[in-house]
Amino acid sequence: MAVVVVVDDEQRQRDILKAILEDEGHEVHTAPSAEDGLGAICRLQPDVVLSDLKMGGMSGVELLGKLPDDTIRPAFILMTAFGTISSAVEAMKKGALDYLTKPLEKDEIILAVRKAAERIELLKENLRLRDELYGKFKIEGIVGKSPKMLEIMDVIRKVASAPVTVLIHGESGTGKELVARAIHYNSTRKSSPFTAINCAAIPESLIESELFGYEAGAFTGATHRKIGLFEASNKGTLFLDEIGDLPPLMQTKILRVLQDKEVRRVGGKDSLKVDVRIVTATNRDLEKDVPAGRFREDLYYRLRVVTLALPPLRDRKEDIPALAVFFVDKYNREFGKRIKGVADSALKALLDYHWPGNIRQLEAIIERAVLMTDSDTIQLKDIKDELRVRSEKSLLDMDLPDEGINFEEMERELLKKAMVKSNNVAAKAARLLGMSYKTFWYRLEKFGINTDSSKEDKHPEKR
Ligand SMILES: Nc1ncnc2c1ncn2[C@@H]1O[C@H](COP(=O)(O)OP(=O)(O)OP(=O)(O)O)[C@@H](O)[C@H]1O
Ligand SMILES: [Mg+2]
Repeated sequence: MAVVVVVDDEQRQRDILKAILEDEGHEVHTAPSAEDGLGAICRLQPDVVLSDLKMGGMSGVELLGKLPDDTIRPAFILMTAFGTISSAVEAMKKGALDYLTKPLEKDEIILAVRKAAERIELLKENLRLRDELYGKFKIEGIVGKSPKMLEIMDVIRKVASAPVTVLIHGESGTGKELVARAIHYNSTRKSSPFTAINCAAIPESLIESELFGYEAGAFTGATHRKIGLFEASNKGTLFLDEIGDLPPLMQTKILRVLQDKEVRRVGGKDSLKVDVRIVTATNRDLEKDVPAGRFREDLYYRLRVVTLALPPLRDRKEDIPALAVFFVDKYNREFGKRIKGVADSALKALLDYHWPGNIRQLEAIIERAVLMTDSDTIQLKDIKDELRVRSEKSLLDMDLPDEGINFEEMERELLKKAMVKSNNVAAKAARLLGMSYKTFWYRLEKFGINTDSSKEDKHPEKR
């Protein structure tokens, strides 16, 4: 039952209301003026306020305007004399939930308070759900409660404060950087710097000075000393993104830092002790890069003491609704909008989509929809173009003909088409069909498709 504050300057009125509502099982407090009422409201945080409109001193509408700006304000019901309905309407505009006209009917009062209490209960329930979303299922903004994500959050908590290197593996947009930050901010290192470098985006010649820094005069153009990222991240975390693209020489140097825990600036004589936690990420399969000689095996084993494999969004679609709500909230705040959520039809489309760009793509689509929609919830029409452009021109748009199809024939055609489209590069063709290289070869051979012209070796390792 609800906590109710009754505000009225007439003693008799207060007594009657108190009696009626207490009979209904509510906890009722009374106040003889709006000023006293405000005090009681702040103190008691009631679910419902039942206030007279005209009182000596502050009016009911003024009281409404002074309610504390809490997440959940009490439901406000105004009581007015018959002639003052226009002010009641005014009060509704200002956020009163309901109004009752005098003389008051017992049943009306009971019903109005019951409805108001239900409404508050609903708001609280929603808030609890949101808290869950932001609290329990969140480490530094990671949303997801699919078994896969819960497991990942569990690993993050466990490894955060352990002095181990972590390798994060996942397709583009699956949240690798987010996870790297979560590891840092949940660790004992959180008050020291988190720094990041994208090994694929920086020219080889610059990576070394970025990571290790240099002394003045180390090379032409080195006019002053520069501190490298290892030094700058001392006691903190250094995130090496796209580690698979690190050139061989740099791989060797980083291995040395991991072993010796010291760095030397380019052109410097002395080594400096550093205590840096390394977290790396890659969307490549380093497991394959090692035997192919593209990645140092010893470094690989040092980096992957703990490996976190982030699943693509299409493998954990149950997270889509929560992510959508999360991004709607995020962009509501950013754009000052009040979109309530995602309409069912739109949500269904999001759930049906295959998300090649993973969470980053979902975020971009919601961002745009929050900005563009004319409605108070995101509608199918706000997102469907985005989903269509990027989705496969579906072969399955075609209805199955009555006489059926020859499945093997279709498969053979697809394999051939993929080979043609990828200029006979089998690895590419396999990717086009979403198959592993091995599976692809197996099927080519099975269908006896001529592979002589393939530019590739048959051994998957040597891609
Ligand atoms: N579980 C999640 N909950 C909330 N937001 C997420 C989640 N995962 C990813 N994001 C958001 O999606 C976007 C992309 O994530 P992030 O940059 O970490 O991906 P990435 O794997 O590093 O991608 P890339 O390989 O392209 O660099 C970011 O804005 C990030 O905040
Ligand atoms: Mg990234």
